[in-house]
Amino acid sequence: MGQLTTAEKEAMKEEAGIAACSFVKSGMKIGIGTGSTVKYTILELGRRIREEGLQISGIPTSKSTEELSIEQGIPMINWEKCDHLDLVIDGADEFDPDLHLIKGGGGALLREKIVAESSGAMIVVADASKKVDTLGNFPLPIEVNPYGWEQTKRRIEQLCPGSVNRRGANYLTDNGNPILDAEFGPTISNPVQLEAKLRSISGVVEVGLFTNTADVVVMAAKDGCELIRKENARI
Ligand code: 5RP
Repeated sequence: MGQLTTAEKEAMKEEAGIAACSFVKSGMKIGIGTGSTVKYTILELGRRIREEGLQISGIPTSKSTEELSIEQGIPMINWEKCDHLDLVIDGADEFDPDLHLIKGGGGALLREKIVAESSGAMIVVADASKKVDTLGNFPLPIEVNPYGWEQTKRRIEQLCPGSVNRRGANYLTDNGNPILDAEFGPTISNPVQLEAKLRSISGVVEVGLFTNTADVVVMAAKDGCELIRKENARI
């Protein structure tokens, strides 16, 4: 994609974040993702609520998203009274040609996966730098239980060709768990199998591989926005 200035990158995030809002209609219950691209989705939804009378409610995937959504006037609901969302809009750290994703760069992968799996469709907002042929250049985030995380890390290391590093000595997710970032390199040619293997390790709470979950990627590039749809997209 060549060298982009910070302002150009930010403009691309904004374009993707806003474009994804065209999927949102009044009456919908939506999952609201986490990250610097979805931030623009939240701002646009807030604008449509104020200026166009859009009526939606949402479930946030992180405390930071919840705060911004409330600030923007998006009504929040919770799982007590909601068992299904119409769609979720979320970011990604990488996506491959089958729209399998690496997520969790912002540490919200567990809530993001619960929300994605409860949604009728998943729209991903990303800039073109997130598009890869094979997943894994971005270190794979894995949320683990604090108990015996060192041993869980050793077991993950048996599957990972590169190093596995705890994210920040004191870093904990919104759920109170550490994250291990596993450096697979661009080797994840079978993300479905790897996700299953990693999830079978006791102590692993969730893996940042989102396989067969995304329907559409709204990808911003320097010359505009492109919609990349999965063949059997639900939306
Ligand atoms: C948070 C995520 C984010 O969606 C992902 O890290 C992309 O974020 P950004 O839009 O800031 O690049 O998975 O857990």
